[in-house]
Amino acid sequence: MSQSQQQTRRAFIQIGAAAGAGLLLGGCSATQRPSAPSPNPQEGNVSPAEDLMREHGLLRRILLVYGEALRRMEDGQEPPAEALADSASIIRSFVEEYHEKLEEDSLFPRFRKAGKLVDLVEVLLEQHQAGRRLTDTTLKVANAQSLKLPANRETLADSLRQFIRMYSPHAAREDTVLFPALREVLSDKEYDDLGDAFEDKEQELFGADGFEKMVGRVAEIEKRLGIYDLKQFTPVG
Ligand SMILES: [Fe+2]
Ligand SMILES: [Fe+2]
Repeated sequence: MSQSQQQTRRAFIQIGAAAGAGLLLGGCSATQRPSAPSPNPQEGNVSPAEDLMREHGLLRRILLVYGEALRRMEDGQEPPAEALADSASIIRSFVEEYHEKLEEDSLFPRFRKAGKLVDLVEVLLEQHQAGRRLTDTTLKVANAQSLKLPANRETLADSLRQFIRMYSPHAAREDTVLFPALREVLSDKEYDDLGDAFEDKEQELFGADGFEKMVGRVAEIEKRLGIYDLKQFTPVG
């Protein structure tokens, strides 16, 4: 986020805080949501839920890369080792060590504390841990030397299959159940602050335009595999 965007965002938050103070004098608690419309603190910015959902979009594009690699392997072709290694390294740094860490540090404890969706949160956490084990395996075997051995090809294929199988429902459940419930466990201010914290963390780990750069990296991998052009997926006739 640029400095001017940050200033704009903070100005909106200050307005929101002032509106909240006014409501407090009217008898509402600090955690109650205002009933009257308030200035939109997210205007021109990315809300936490939108931030997390677009990261899922990036995850899904890597699932498509994994799917294409599997299709080739099942078709008797060479596995695209380099594309898989690059994809798995994006999963490690951007999905597991950033996106999922945000969920684990900033979302899951909120739901547990509020006693909401606790069972779901436990399953999601177990799946994050399982995903990291699968990525360990993918990173270990996704290189030309290792993939000369048929057993390692099978290990890679199993790892990719299990990753796709788990993360398709995982991300869909978070998008449709967990993220929409976020506003039930956070006050408006906490929700806005979380958006800022996500932006700051992304900037700290990946620099300016971190998300856009990751999308660019995934697009390059798609081009190498010939799955970038969206039109090819439209049914003919
Ligand atoms: Fe997750
Ligand atoms: Fe997620």
